[in-house]
Amino acid sequence: MASISKIVLITGANKGIGFEIAKQLASQYKGYHILMGSRVAARGEEAAEALKKEGLSVEALTIDVADDRSIEAAAQTVKSKFGHLDVLINNAGISLDSFTGQPSTRAIFEQTFAVNLFGAASTTEAFIPLLEKSTAARLVFVSSDLGSLSFLADPEGRHNSVPVPAYRCSKAAMNMLALTYAQRFRTQGWKVNIHNPGYTATDLNRHTGPGTVEDAAKGAVRLATLGEDGDTGTYSEKEGPLPW
Ligand SMILES: NC(=O)c1ccc[n+]([C@@H]2O[C@H](COP(=O)([O-])OP(=O)(O)OC[C@H]3O[C@@H](n4cnc5c(N)ncnc54)[C@H](OP(=O)(O)O)[C@@H]3O)[C@@H](O)[C@H]2O)c1
Repeated sequence: MASISKIVLITGANKGIGFEIAKQLASQYKGYHILMGSRVAARGEEAAEALKKEGLSVEALTIDVADDRSIEAAAQTVKSKFGHLDVLINNAGISLDSFTGQPSTRAIFEQTFAVNLFGAASTTEAFIPLLEKSTAARLVFVSSDLGSLSFLADPEGRHNSVPVPAYRCSKAAMNMLALTYAQRFRTQGWKVNIHNPGYTATDLNRHTGPGTVEDAAKGAVRLATLGEDGDTGTYSEKEGPLPW
């Protein structure tokens, strides 16, 4: 713990892209200590143990982003253990449209927004006091190109036929949320950016995506480690900027 220089929290890091972001940050950036957020404590502990075995500086942190008491408890834990937070990666996400057969459109939208949007907003607000104690705060919102209004407004746009309206709306709203933080903390030098991992084989899509988690994590790692001259308020993927 003595050589820790940056404290990073990744939500939904017990598996998938979040787990891989934790792995890449901890293995490539000396001094970065990763708090692997997990809504279920045992899943977080298991994930953290796997990376600790590789000698990486990580630990599990229980945080259910759909539960304010869980978020608050996580913020208190980070405050008492570290006193500040340098990087917050809002990665936790769900996609319910196609798979769950929920009873109503309202239920699908409410549950999706509870995690993807309200979860990211509530987590960010809870950790702002700790991010304000960082000398170089970085926020990454793991969004999706399915949240791009420009792509869907174009009849020939990318992924136009993917029928996941609740998920699309939640990610479009997340992009706006991220921009509000980019604007709010621009003069303080915070770098607040949005990452599209691309269609990636994970549990979220029953491993139908063609991409790998290794590739999907790279952009988030880049944005989490931006220098003072880095951009803020961007929406991008590893190939470059995305249209809003
Ligand atoms: N995979 C893709 O093709 C793709 C493309 C674009 C964007 N994304 C985005 O990338 C992010 C990561 O997705 P993924 O593909 O890695 O999916 P994943 O493998 O299903 O992982 C999702 C993670 O979010 C966690 N999570 C779900 N609800 C939560 C809650 N209430 N509180 C805290 N954590 C919660 C999950 O925890 P549990 O294990 O406990 O469920 C899991 O750790 C998401 O925001 C997703 O929208 C993915």
